[in-house]
Formats: sequence, C-alpha cells, structure tokens
Amino acid sequence: METSVRNWNLAVFRDAGAASEAAADVVATTVQRKSNPAISLPTGSTPLGMFDILSARVARSEIDFSDVDIFCLDEYVGVSLDDPTSLTRWLWDALLHRIGVKPEQVHALPSTAFDLSAAATAYDEAITARGGLDLAVLGLGPNGHIGYNEPGSEADSRTRVISLTPESVSQASSYWEGAVSIPDKAMTIGVGTLLESKRIVLLVTGGAKAEILRRALEEPMGADVPASWLRLAGSRLQVVADEEAASSLSKEVAG
Ligand code: PGA
Repeated sequence: METSVRNWNLAVFRDAGAASEAAADVVATTVQRKSNPAISLPTGSTPLGMFDILSARVARSEIDFSDVDIFCLDEYVGVSLDDPTSLTRWLWDALLHRIGVKPEQVHALPSTAFDLSAAATAYDEAITARGGLDLAVLGLGPNGHIGYNEPGSEADSRTRVISLTPESVSQASSYWEGAVSIPDKAMTIGVGTLLESKRIVLLVTGGAKAEILRRALEEPMGADVPASWLRLAGSRLQVVADEEAASSLSKEVAG
C-alpha cells in the first residue's frame, strides 16, 4: 500500500496549453527512446490540445509513430469500428490518422466478440505479454473514472466489460454533440492492467475537475474514485495538471 511519503509526481502548469505540451513531451520521449512501444491514449475533450501538438510535431518530422502499437483504452460493447459511436474510430479521427498510424498498428478492444469475457482476457494478456504498456496517458472522468473504470472498480481489476453510470453516458454523448445514442456498457482496460504500465500520465485540465482531482490525490485510495489507485504506481505516475484543475489541492500536495 501507499507509504506516507508521496513518491508520485505532480506538475502544475499555467494553462491547458502548457499542460498539453508537457504531456506531448512524455509521449514523444517514449516513442523516440523505445523500439516498438505499446501506448494507450485517452478519448475525451482533455487530450485534444495534446493531439494537436503531436500532429504538428509529426508534420515537422520531429516524431515518427510508424513503430508504435496503440492499445485502445476502452470501447462500447457491440459497437464496431464503422459505427459512429466507436471510441476507436473517434481516436482514429481525432489523432491516429493525423500522425501516420496505420490500422494494423491499432489494437481495438474486442467489444463485439461472441465471448466478451474471454476476448477481454486475451486482450489483457496481450498487454501483459509485452510487460505492460510502455505508456498510458489517461484523462480523469468527472466521476473519477480512468478509461471506463467506473466508481466501484478495484485496483486489481483487469480488462473487462463494465456498466456505465448515467453520468458517463451523458458525458460521452456530448462528444458527438448528442447526435448518437451511447450504449450503457463498455469494455475497458482494467485498473490493475494500467498499474502495470511503465509510465502513466494523468492529464487533467480545467476548474470542473478540481474537486475530483483533489479526491483522487488527497483522499484515501479507494474504488469510489478509481483514479486514486494510480498513486500505487508511485514514481511511474506523472500527474500533469493546469492551475485551474490543481486549484483545490492542499499546499502539501501541490508543493
Ligand atoms: P474529458 O473526459 O476529457 O472529456 O473531461 C475525461 C474522461 O472521462 O476520461
């Protein structure tokens, strides 16, 4: 369990743009230093700035993603890649096609498999066989979820199907401006699987996340706020926040 001495890292930046640059730097370093790295990237509104920065760096030939394996973080159950609701497709449109990633580099969650449980386990084992992800970049859900590890998710949870809270369903529907109906079940990489990553970046921006970030970093770790489990990764966790998101943190934590 966590010791009383904090060994995870927190960096607070002036605004979302500076935080996005810092997160993009970690992605770039991982891609440049490791041959054939396995990376997971978040969906949502938070990472859009980081996606623009990465795309610009690729356009300037500063980073090359041709050797990277992308492991998708989550996907709705029963949703295939050509469905407008697909999170994999969303990530493809928002980033992957802009950085030269080819479809064969993308490991989508097997969320249309006949045996979802067996398929989720196989996906998890593919990550474990690589010694864990080299880098997981995560957003923080308004309810404390990471990926779709909703409240109630334990630290040792593996890749699996999970029921979404009504709050998460309506949050997701805003990504498509309410134009699609969001399933109430998703397959997500588990908390335990994420904790095996060699590096984890939790990217959090905006005042609306201040209270949930405070709970994730300052309250006792627990399944009520699944992101709090990330502290178990110790020095492998880098929290990247802007001043607004960090505004409720105590002086002891914010430094
Ligand atoms: P957001 O979502 O970036 O749209 O706030 C974060 C998340 O739910 O992981």
